[in-house]
Amino acid sequence: MSALEDIRDIMQGWFEDCACESAKQLGAPHSGKMLRSKLILAIAPENEQTKRLCAVIELIQNASLLHDDVIDEASMRRGQPSLNATAGARNAIMMGDLLYAKAFYELTRLGDEIARIVSEAVVHLSNGEVADVCYAGKLYDNELHYLQVVYDKTASLLRASSHAAAILAGLDTQALASYGENLGMAFQIVDDVLDIMQDSTKLGKNALHDFKEGKCTLPYIYLFQKLDSAQKQVLQSLIGRDLDAGEQQWLLDNLRDSGAIEQAIAKAREYGDFALQSIQHIQNAKLKEIVAQMIEREF
Ligand code: IPE
Ligand code: IPE
Ligand code: MG
Ligand code: MG
Ligand code: MG
Repeated sequence: MSALEDIRDIMQGWFEDCACESAKQLGAPHSGKMLRSKLILAIAPENEQTKRLCAVIELIQNASLLHDDVIDEASMRRGQPSLNATAGARNAIMMGDLLYAKAFYELTRLGDEIARIVSEAVVHLSNGEVADVCYAGKLYDNELHYLQVVYDKTASLLRASSHAAAILAGLDTQALASYGENLGMAFQIVDDVLDIMQDSTKLGKNALHDFKEGKCTLPYIYLFQKLDSAQKQVLQSLIGRDLDAGEQQWLLDNLRDSGAIEQAIAKAREYGDFALQSIQHIQNAKLKEIVAQMIEREF
């Protein structure tokens, strides 16, 4: 798809403009799936403003991942060693800041309304990442709390992407914002399921990392709800540390046998359905396809 190549070129150009030696040395992070760009391009006409919006959102996405990998102490990203692993956390944080600063400068050229929508989403994203850290190491059964964090850290940016695209396209902003939000909720739940069910090579990041990092994602919440008090204690003793083969097997068996994985997938599908309901009155086959592909994806 050549629009995606154009977007990568725009981002590359911004780095050249930036004249920042560390940006050039460390290079822009690899491009990833570009889901948010695909979403924007499915809504707005393929012109300069739309591609600028895509490049801004991808830059924000890259910045958030640089910071997220420091926070999560992740050593792999997009099939490569993460920047914090190769250049250290300090460089990864500064590189993230640099990408944010550049993204916000370019964002101002998209007009006040879009600038407000996207920057508010980044406030949510940062709050969500903070909440994720605050709750690390704790097992809990509060699904609503988890969903709030998922809204903040992930769905808010997808909501803002489709909302801004709808503004550029002159389409129903409420419906498309709601579509993006529900797609984003489903997207993070699938990401959390894939962390458990997928292998590292396919994921391009370390599998089963969330639990070892102390993250109680939706499948673990559902599992926690189903265990008796002795089993709950076992689960609590495992979270937030490296697991041996036996412990890992215990965890995977219980996640599968308890139906926790299936329940989480069903929740993601529910959000996928909400996304589709939001755009019932809009004829857009691409947006329907994005939901289906996102649920079925392997990484
Ligand atoms: C990763 O996002 C962070 C989450 C919100 C789960 P993506 O899975 O979209 O990452 P890339 O951009 O494709 O690498
Ligand atoms: C990150 O969520 C969401 C962001 C806002 C970056 P995760 O921590 O689950 O993302 P991955 O799995 O590292 O890509
Ligand atoms: Mg992470
Ligand atoms: Mg994280
Ligand atoms: Mg994840």
